[in-house]
Amino acid sequence: MNMGENEKKMKINWYPGHMTKAKRMMQENMGLIDLVIEVLDARIPLSSRNPDIHQLAKNKSRIVLLNKSDLADPQKNAQWMHYFEEQGAYALEVNAKNGSGIKSIKALVEKACKEKMDRDRKRGILNRPVRAMVVGIPNVGKSTFINAIAGKACTKTGNKPGVTKGKQWISIGKNMELLDTPGILWPKFEDVQVGLNLAFVGSINDEIIQLEELALELLVELRKDYPQAISNRYEISEEGTPLEVLERIAESRKCYDKGEVLHLGRAANIFLDDFRSGKLGRITLEMPTY
Ligand code: G4P
Repeated sequence: MNMGENEKKMKINWYPGHMTKAKRMMQENMGLIDLVIEVLDARIPLSSRNPDIHQLAKNKSRIVLLNKSDLADPQKNAQWMHYFEEQGAYALEVNAKNGSGIKSIKALVEKACKEKMDRDRKRGILNRPVRAMVVGIPNVGKSTFINAIAGKACTKTGNKPGVTKGKQWISIGKNMELLDTPGILWPKFEDVQVGLNLAFVGSINDEIIQLEELALELLVELRKDYPQAISNRYEISEEGTPLEVLERIAESRKCYDKGEVLHLGRAANIFLDDFRSGKLGRITLEMPTY
């Protein structure tokens, strides 16, 4: 049987109350900065991108980071890099958790901000650091990235004249200052698949989601491009309906309720955790649409 055909997709609705406040805060901070560092999840670069960023960051230099690249498919990372570069964006593949790729940021900042630096120089303003803000949806790795780039040598410069009281700036070398609080963007849920992708990678609070149903949806997705991921991990057959596969995962991981009754919720949890932590392999769930 063909998994997923004619199945109605699970729809996720999620409107956090503090969204408006976060957006307002970010708009205020935009006035203080030259450069926006947009952090995306390399497994779902488009779903983890809030389209409002184009409006919010208008007239700012911009760098796109494909973070969590260690969890994403290496070949597809390369295709995504190509996609963003074709669009004229400055992009970089990074792993904020272990710091790989982070060293290349400084050179990219110089490229992205060259016009501004040249303009400053013409006006006689020398060595004014580029001011940057990190933005992205929850859980994408903004704080991890800030820690990685700031490293141990960072100094907080804080409370500069003309800057809203309480703002903290982290000096990154001589040429850049980073706002220590990232801008939080909320994902857009208009497309059902976008909501699912965000839930798969764990960017939506699991409490509002039917985990069993989500696991079944992910089984459908994985079968499209990564047909061996399940059989390799659990040593089971991937044949049959998503429910049958989830039952086999439950058996293989000994998820029983009382006696012989399978506990599918626990199996769903294990399966989703395995995916999110890369134990099913390096997987990318969406490809560029031109
Ligand atoms: P946020 O500020 O955007 O909300 O995200 P945050 O930095 O808190 O990161 C969310 C989770 O993603 C953290 O895991 C973090 O370790 C992980 N993470 C960030 N960047 C990367 C990356 O490039 N690769 C991988 N594999 N993971 C990354 P956590 O489980 O919440 O915490 P922890 O157990 O890792 O400490």
